[in-house]
Amino acid sequence: LVAFFQPKVLAGRRVLITAGPTYEAIDPVRGITNLSSGKMGFALARAAAEAGARVTLVAGPVHLETPQGVTRLNVKSAQQMLDAVLPLAAAHDVFIATAAVADWRPAQLAEHKIKKDGSGQVPQIAMSENPDILATVAALPQPPLCVGFAAESQDVAHHARQKLQRKKVALVVGNIGPATFGQDNNALLLVDAQGDQPLPADGSRAPKLALARALVADIARRLPK
Ligand code: CTP
Ligand code: CA
Repeated sequence: LVAFFQPKVLAGRRVLITAGPTYEAIDPVRGITNLSSGKMGFALARAAAEAGARVTLVAGPVHLETPQGVTRLNVKSAQQMLDAVLPLAAAHDVFIATAAVADWRPAQLAEHKIKKDGSGQVPQIAMSENPDILATVAALPQPPLCVGFAAESQDVAHHARQKLQRKKVALVVGNIGPATFGQDNNALLLVDAQGDQPLPADGSRAPKLALARALVADIARRLPK
């Protein structure tokens, strides 16, 4: 690994990251998902590994290469993501939830492909709420340092602060500006109990890997010595 981090600010630490979208099946050939590319989560996994951490990456369906030295678990649904994360969380120092977890899933999975019956009637798909993976980890008896992301289309600072309080996490990272799904550049807003701070500090946009490295350095400073 390149010697980007000197000193290695996460040496001896374990970092657990969720990334990408989830896929919620309707029937064997259809499902509900979203446009998350997974790039930010994979960049964070790479940056944390560069900083000396042992990194576990729980990834929804994305076509990205696993960063060097990172242990990857592939999942599809939100429930599978929770089932992968929960037994691992307590053994990690940091949990970073970058995944765009589907908020709802079809209440029932049809065993066979749903067919048109010729009447022109459309299927009524009832939905159930998915578990909140980040809030569940943050509520563990001895939780890792929890970092959330907030995907908002408006009023990032306000919504990020609400998520910080509702999910009881140390830091929420908001995406500033227009939809960043799939893009290589981004601008972030770091929201914690102390206040808000843009990253980059001058409010410009930066490549996701540069942002990931800066965020990893910031997270390292929040860990108990
Ligand atoms: N998150 C999660 N599990 C969920 C939903 C969200 O772990 N079921 C995590 C995301 O990975 C992210 C943070 O919670 O780190 C915020 O996700 P977001 O979708 O912005 O917030 P929600 O609480 O789902 O609220 P809403 O979508 O209504 O804004
Ligand atoms: Ca959501």
